[in-house]
Amino acid sequence: MGEMEDGYKREESVALLVIVVLATLSLASLFVAFSYYCYISNKVSKHLKSLKGRNEEKEKAAPLRSGSGRGSGSGDGGGDVPILAIDSGVQVFSYKQLHSATGSFGKGNVVGHGSFGAVYRGVLPDGRKVAVKLMDRPGKQGEEEFNTEVELLTRLHSPHLLTLVGHCSDSGHRLLVYEFMANGGLQEHLYPTKGYACSCGGISKLQWDTRMQIALDASKGLEYLHEHVSPPVIHRDFKSSNILLDDNFHAKVSDFGLAKFGSDKAGGHVSTRILGTQGYVAPEYALSGHLTTKSDVYSYGVVLLELLTGRVPVDMNRPSGEGILVAWALPYLNVREKVIEIMDPALEGQYSMKDAVQVAAIAAMCVQPEADYRPLMADVVQSLAPLVKNRSSKKISSSSTSQSCKPATKPEYD
Ligand SMILES: Nc1ncnc2c1ncn2[C@@H]1O[C@H](COP(=O)(O)OP(=O)(O)OP(=O)(O)O)[C@@H](O)[C@H]1O
Ligand SMILES: [Mg+2]
Repeated sequence: MGEMEDGYKREESVALLVIVVLATLSLASLFVAFSYYCYISNKVSKHLKSLKGRNEEKEKAAPLRSGSGRGSGSGDGGGDVPILAIDSGVQVFSYKQLHSATGSFGKGNVVGHGSFGAVYRGVLPDGRKVAVKLMDRPGKQGEEEFNTEVELLTRLHSPHLLTLVGHCSDSGHRLLVYEFMANGGLQEHLYPTKGYACSCGGISKLQWDTRMQIALDASKGLEYLHEHVSPPVIHRDFKSSNILLDDNFHAKVSDFGLAKFGSDKAGGHVSTRILGTQGYVAPEYALSGHLTTKSDVYSYGVVLLELLTGRVPVDMNRPSGEGILVAWALPYLNVREKVIEIMDPALEGQYSMKDAVQVAAIAAMCVQPEADYRPLMADVVQSLAPLVKNRSSKKISSSSTSQSCKPATKPEYD
């Protein structure tokens, strides 16, 4: 009996010992885990602090340097070193650097003027040609557009979107620096005014194949924004003056100051203030402020109509019933025999009627009042791609004086 009791007692004390050992081990591992956690979080917060410090230094760098004179102790060698800081490939410039890149913002270097301010031609010390936009619009809206443009173009990259080279927020100045597009805005070529380099005295010399290439490039720009980015980006100010042309008349979409992130849900919309340019704004957005990627598709359709007809979206000086381009053109677009009646006379019949009918049908789908029935930009890209022919470098010119105005001929039907 006594032996059995002793046996039980021994087992009991062994169990107790095991419990104590296990508890000690658990406590020890808890302690080790806690110490490790403290060590890591300390390391992370130190790293974050040093990053924040560096960013603050970067932001302070521009105004400090711009205030200093040529070669004065700031280390910029009197403006010879162009880059103050690099932010995901987008450079931060000082006002002084852009002042010298644009010949002191000389009048001779002005290449255009928009609602943001004047646009200047410039050359960076490394030889790169740039366009510099100098904001002359004080107030919250201008500030918002500047920030949106910088934030979006720092992240979005496509061969069909204009590249932002850098920006400057220095001593109250706001400037945007872009790659230089040698042939400027599409509208200048569609509607050349007196004084603009066109040998035909105000008649567009943009040939059909070039127009189709521009339409395709621009559609790819919007396709990227709508379908390759998540959440999708709605441009909100797509128009012919925001399609810029390089020296080979390839097009890039520009000006993202009004852009908005769209809804990720299929058929979803975002509600927002109604902004944009008259003649390009989709009816449902104009009426309700409901914005979707299909609002851009509508604006794209208006640009296609400009390319077909050579007419600006709104001109109340045109004969009665012709003032609003969409309203005037819509009844012609889906009638094969009628398309010829709205074609730009400046094309002088130099296009395939079959292709023109197809483009008119695409434009009709894009500008239809019911947003849901408008195509996706990917569908537009697919439909336009076969219509774009390889252009020889001689044929692409729109403003070269070597190209004479041919007498009007009838387009070929094939
Ligand atoms: N990157 C660039 N390269 C060459 N020229 C440019 C460039 N950006 C703009 N321009 C020229 O400056 C003009 C004005 O452009 P800007 O974007 O400021 O105004 P807009 O598009 O005409 O009007 P809005 O302010 O309503 O958008 C363009 O039509 C074009 O000729
Ligand atoms: Mg513009």
